[in-house]
Amino acid sequence: MGYPHKSHPRETPVLSKHFGDPKARELETWKSFGGYRALQQALAMEPTAIQDVVKASGLRGRGGAGFPTGLKWSFMKLGDGKPHYLCCNADESEPGTFKDREIMRWTPHALIEGCAIGAHAIGAETCFIYIRGEFSEPIAVMERALAEARAAGIIGKNAMGSGKTVDVWVHKGAGAYICGEETALMNSIEGKRGNPRIKPPFPAVAGLFGMPTTINNVETLAAVPHILNNGAEWYKAMCTASPKSTGSKLFSVCGNVARPGNYEVVMGFPFKEFLYDLCGGPPPGRKFKAIIPGGSSVPVITIEEAEQVKMDYEGFLEYGTMLGSGGVIIFDDAQSMPRQLARLARFYAHESCAQCTQCREGTAWMTKILERIVAGQGTFEDLDTIFELAENMTGKTICVLSDSCAAPVTSGIQRFRHEFEALISGKRSSSVAVAGAL
Ligand SMILES: Cc1cc2nc3c(=O)[nH]c(=O)nc-3n(C[C@H](O)[C@H](O)[C@H](O)COP(=O)(O)O)c2cc1C
Repeated sequence: MGYPHKSHPRETPVLSKHFGDPKARELETWKSFGGYRALQQALAMEPTAIQDVVKASGLRGRGGAGFPTGLKWSFMKLGDGKPHYLCCNADESEPGTFKDREIMRWTPHALIEGCAIGAHAIGAETCFIYIRGEFSEPIAVMERALAEARAAGIIGKNAMGSGKTVDVWVHKGAGAYICGEETALMNSIEGKRGNPRIKPPFPAVAGLFGMPTTINNVETLAAVPHILNNGAEWYKAMCTASPKSTGSKLFSVCGNVARPGNYEVVMGFPFKEFLYDLCGGPPPGRKFKAIIPGGSSVPVITIEEAEQVKMDYEGFLEYGTMLGSGGVIIFDDAQSMPRQLARLARFYAHESCAQCTQCREGTAWMTKILERIVAGQGTFEDLDTIFELAENMTGKTICVLSDSCAAPVTSGIQRFRHEFEALISGKRSSSVAVAGAL
């Protein structure tokens, strides 16, 4: 996506409509686009009524897991006399994912409005936007927009004259992938080491500072004002395949592709058309080989599989992978899958918080073994060891960081075993087009 941003005619720009327009960052311009109308309306509504609209829209979390947002909000026990908190997850450290930072850079008031509505809907007076520390520009843009909104009486005490308090604050992270995990994020805000917590208790019962808390992704919250303005049915109608996946979705595209960038399409959009028409296909002279479609934590699929996929939660699942955060990482036929997966495993080993043995040891050993194979010193037994390790890394730890390392690696070996075997037996893989790519 270049700037100023021009959408492809097949895109459905809802969240990205004003990307690239610096005027859209300003409060007055944002209001002229209809900004803060939804908040005004929401502040006059009962929290449960807002939850019902969001439930009816079918909105699901855009942070990775796809949990229904309205249902998550309804877990917060209203009227319990405790302070409630909303945390907006703007950590965005998942490799291949770069959409939340663009929402913050270009449309900060959309996020503030979504946060304020979300906070009111769960009975919270305070929302913390937890932003990855390296995001200096998005942080500056958000701080400026928050100051504008506060000075205009939109957030703070008596928000928009409603008599209700809804405030939104930025909290800077320090650049650790694990702090995007919701319970590590809360520990980090509390000033503790960003280690995930054991659940239960779930955040809706005992979250930030021990109080009921909801955590939502930037893209999830930024979609909420549109839903309130246009209605649940409008949002639900943006669905072309599974009725369980509704709305528009931002996909970040990177790797070996002609036109990398962010693209917003309706749920269920054909992946083949997305890859070749919107993203412009592979670089000249190359062919697509493999795709990790949902950020680096989800299974790898082949291009042949990808071409069959409908881009929604169910569509990706059907082909053994996940929509995840929508970070589409593309590999062409010049890439060595063993080398790429060793690189990914090293990232997870580096980012493991090391609380759980299966994760601390598993990610480190998986990296060592993969790097040994890439160096031409692997054995066939190594492949079995990787699957054994993966078994112990999946579903056995406090959070899913170790599962996220195992998934791309095992799916990659299953689909591109010949490349691993070629390296082990001392031959180069015939499917890697460029000599030296291994
Ligand atoms: C290791 C790890 C890193 C994560 N990083 C992020 C992140 O950067 N942003 C995000 O929104 N969710 C991230 N998540 C998911 C969050 O824990 C949580 O599910 C999400 O913020 C919920 O928001 P949603 O319901 O709106 O999707 C991560 C999860 C794990 C296990």
